[in-house]
Amino acid sequence: MNQKVLSNEDEPRQAAAPAQSGMVTSIKPLPHDAMILIPMRNTVLFPGVISPITVGRVASVAAAQEAVRSERKVGFLLQKDPQKNDVKPEDLYWVGTAGQVVRYITGAEGTHHLVVQGQSRFRVLEFLEGWPFMVARVQMVEAPEGVEELKQPEIEARFLQLKEQASEALSLLPNAPEELGVVLHGVSSPALLADMVANLLDVKNEDKQDLLETFDLKRRLDKVLELLSERVGVLRISKEIGEKTKKQFDERQREHVLREQMRQIQKELGEGEEGEGEIEELRKAVAGAGMPEDVLKHATKELKRLERMGEGSAEGSMLRTYLEWLSEIPWKDEPGKEINIQEARKILDEDHFGLEKIKKRILEHLAVRKLNPHGKSPILCFVGPPGVGKTSLGQSIARATGRKFQRIALGGVHDEAEIRGHRRTYIGALPGNVIQAIRRAESKNTVLMFDEIDKLGQGGFHGDPSSALLEVLDPEQNSRFRDNYLAVDYDLSKVMFITTANMLDTIPGPLRDRMEIIQLPGYTEEEKLEIAKRYLVDRQLEANGLKSEDRKLEGAAITDEALRTIIRDYTREAGVRNLEREIGSVLRHVAMRIAEEGAMKIEVKPEDLPAILGPRRFENEVAQRTAVAGVATGLAWTSVGGDILFIEASKVPGSGKLILTGQLGDVMKESAQAALTLAKTFMNETLEKVDIHVHVPAGATPKDGPSAGVAMFTALVSLLSGKPVRHDAAMTGEISLRGLVLPIGGVKEKTLAALRAGIRMVLLPKRNEKDLEDVPKEAREKLEFVFLEQVEDAVRAALGVDPVELRKAA
Ligand SMILES: Nc1ncnc2c1ncn2[C@@H]1O[C@H](COP(=O)(O)OP(=O)(O)OP(=O)(O)O)[C@@H](O)[C@H]1O
Ligand SMILES: [Mg+2]
Repeated sequence: MNQKVLSNEDEPRQAAAPAQSGMVTSIKPLPHDAMILIPMRNTVLFPGVISPITVGRVASVAAAQEAVRSERKVGFLLQKDPQKNDVKPEDLYWVGTAGQVVRYITGAEGTHHLVVQGQSRFRVLEFLEGWPFMVARVQMVEAPEGVEELKQPEIEARFLQLKEQASEALSLLPNAPEELGVVLHGVSSPALLADMVANLLDVKNEDKQDLLETFDLKRRLDKVLELLSERVGVLRISKEIGEKTKKQFDERQREHVLREQMRQIQKELGEGEEGEGEIEELRKAVAGAGMPEDVLKHATKELKRLERMGEGSAEGSMLRTYLEWLSEIPWKDEPGKEINIQEARKILDEDHFGLEKIKKRILEHLAVRKLNPHGKSPILCFVGPPGVGKTSLGQSIARATGRKFQRIALGGVHDEAEIRGHRRTYIGALPGNVIQAIRRAESKNTVLMFDEIDKLGQGGFHGDPSSALLEVLDPEQNSRFRDNYLAVDYDLSKVMFITTANMLDTIPGPLRDRMEIIQLPGYTEEEKLEIAKRYLVDRQLEANGLKSEDRKLEGAAITDEALRTIIRDYTREAGVRNLEREIGSVLRHVAMRIAEEGAMKIEVKPEDLPAILGPRRFENEVAQRTAVAGVATGLAWTSVGGDILFIEASKVPGSGKLILTGQLGDVMKESAQAALTLAKTFMNETLEKVDIHVHVPAGATPKDGPSAGVAMFTALVSLLSGKPVRHDAAMTGEISLRGLVLPIGGVKEKTLAALRAGIRMVLLPKRNEKDLEDVPKEAREKLEFVFLEQVEDAVRAALGVDPVELRKAA
């Protein structure tokens, strides 16, 4: 609603030519159906509304004076373009409101003010020439003035609703005059109410003009209601936002006040230092912080300001916090421990099993840094599924280079200020998490890990966090990083940044360009066994307090076979995080038994596991699922590494439709469609009397992408031919409508997943053959690979039949 009801200034206060009263006496008389007109730049006058109007243009002043002199009504018409000074009939809307000038005031500086009472709508029939102002023959539009219409239920309903909405709108406006509510409440004519509300509405003039031109009362009520309820919606939201901000503000304020009180109380009790002493202390801290010259100058200036201000004030304590931050972050350029590559290799080997290639690349990276400490080496980025050791490699690098380790989780960071801090003008402002981490580390020579850079929130309302991060990571810029709170440059170039991610694709491009990507695909069963034996069991013994206190408990042991069973039947993951957790459960169980039974040594064997961990979770899943015709095992590639997925096809009576279930993505749906077309051609069937149902059972695996094409085709051919798919075969590959098998990504991850699931034979596109180089030796030895050029090749391998025979039999 329009709050500036009373300041309806229509005309700029330009000085008008002084209108002498003698000037208008020579005017020729107006015909009886003619009306004096005043064009309006910004105001739509409504019937029943009293409105102040300022006139400035010579013609408008003349019109107003003539109207007052001859006691005639004036017609007010809205201009289409408010900027236009010299208006012609075609510049005006031809429907307006006729009103009585109830007061005419000539202000100081030669301005002319009218108070006008709107009376009724009119329509222009024809403009007339020959007067020093605009004149037109008009037709009045009769308005239903009384309360007669209220007898019509459809009018009454709208009338009541409008009243209700209007009073809600008023209640949402923080400073609406109270009388307005009373006035609106007292209105008994629906037409008048509609016009009054229309006048108050905060909408474009075109919309108001439209309301003016809507003569039909019911339609007008509807339009007003619609506009009003829109406004109410907006008002509600802005009120909500206002309240939220206020609450946040209040909370910060409250904390601030409490701290201040605490300080005062401490002072009274003689616990805190004196104010004088505190400033003195700050001065020492600032002087000893080793700040660069310009920062020191700035800090000294702020110190002086603090002295003048005294500490009691809110601003004083904010300033003190700021100076504390400034003096506590590490400024000195210590040389940092020399990197010893031999030593580093030893430590990396100590902390992590395997990962030879990765350790080699890390050492190369460190060597480059060592040889060229001021060079701009790219930032390491570890990419891989959960639990493969990304974070712990970072910790290990810190240890190997004798630096502190700090971690910043970026998952869900949406606000630029989390990285770069809030300006000091905010109450409760703090530096961003980069500066905070550096302060915790107490040295610029720190390994700073940004975890989950792929889950960084996209920029929005509060600025783009990824561009702030870019500034942090970019060696070109980070020697002069500017945190909003500190508001001075800080040199981050000594910090060794490492980032981690589960997926490459969601890392913003510009960030990715600055990083050296190191992929960790996941571990094979053998590798997991070694990791478990060398690290996880030991660590869990310690974590569960089984190691130090009671030496006896070290008798807890898990046999290799039992570990293998846990890996194979109780976990299905690329990394070792669940494995570590399960080992923990087993050890806790053992500890209890040792305590209860007083046994010296307990060894856990595979057959003990169900009693401890429950029934096996992933045993023989593939064999059971693929026992019937119509099910094929596919291989997928996700952010948690590779995984297997089942494609189930079945036939039901119907009319040749394809039904897809299991929350498939669009690409996967298309590939199912293509697979069905191919399978029909291949089996030479039309399938007019059946519907084909393809289901990909739920699971954590997101189901999209084209690489399930071969598996879908195979499942469909299996269904149509009645021949089940080999239970130990899994496949991946995109298909073309011509029956070609196209290459896919993630071969390494997919083969590892196949191995984990107990698959023997993996079907891959021929064009992926070269990718086998990257597949771990263990997987290459244990799996049989079949390379596919045509979909027929998949039928031959997976169903174990000659495609030609199959077609003949069908
Ligand atoms: N090669 C390895 N040798 C020894 N321990 C390992 C190895 N790989 C992983 N671990 C251990 O596995 C656990 C999980 O690793 P970590 O926390 O580093 O996973 P992550 O890759 O950071 O996973 P996420 O993506 O979930 O953060 C750690 O305790 C880590 O030490
Ligand atoms: Mg991690």
